[in-house]
Amino acid sequence: MTRFKRRNDFCTLSLLVFTIYQLEKSMAFTSCEISVLTVNYVNQCPTDSESWQLAAKRMNCEGIEEDCQQGIRTESHQFVFQYHCVINVWRNETLEVCAFNRTILGHCAEFNILGSVIQDNYYADCTKHDPPCPSVYNSAEAYKYKSCYELVQQIRRKTNTISSAKR
Ligand SMILES: *[C@@H]1O[C@H](CO)[C@@H](O)[C@H](O)[C@H]1NC(C)=O
Ligand SMILES: *[C@@H]1O[C@H](CO)[C@@H](O)[C@H](O)[C@H]1NC(C)=O
Repeated sequence: MTRFKRRNDFCTLSLLVFTIYQLEKSMAFTSCEISVLTVNYVNQCPTDSESWQLAAKRMNCEGIEEDCQQGIRTESHQFVFQYHCVINVWRNETLEVCAFNRTILGHCAEFNILGSVIQDNYYADCTKHDPPCPSVYNSAEAYKYKSCYELVQQIRRKTNTISSAKR
């Protein structure tokens, strides 16, 4: 009886550890503190493969030594520390950053400075944009979905109109 119970406890504990592991893997896993130091605010992001590659070359993310790779390398090379040009959390800036890429689920890709991580911007569902983004895409290919960059222009225009109206 006691033996049986102990075994059950063990199962519960294993399950808990496994769940935490999975959670970390899906969330904090692609975060890398050094990314914050590479942020470069820009007026425009490249919107085609060629200019994207040029910008990536200039930023040379591959040449940056980050000690976050270790944990990620043990998985299957799924995440690569590379050039991104994405929106910020408030959708009023576009920025270049070296960060691990990530699977984005139908939103504009953002760089979250607090978490130092690329992730979905849940306020920007780009599957509803014209043209729409796919419901699953690689954040490293954000340049294909320029409606996300246009969102920043729109929000900025709106803010400017409001502040000039106030004046
Ligand atoms: C973007 O929005 C945030 C929050 O409203 C604000 O603090 C920041 O100044 C804005 N940046 C620009 C460039 O408008
Ligand atoms: C990250 O980018 C690499 C190519 O640079 C790609 O092979 C990999 O699948 C991407 N990872 C995710 C999660 O999209």
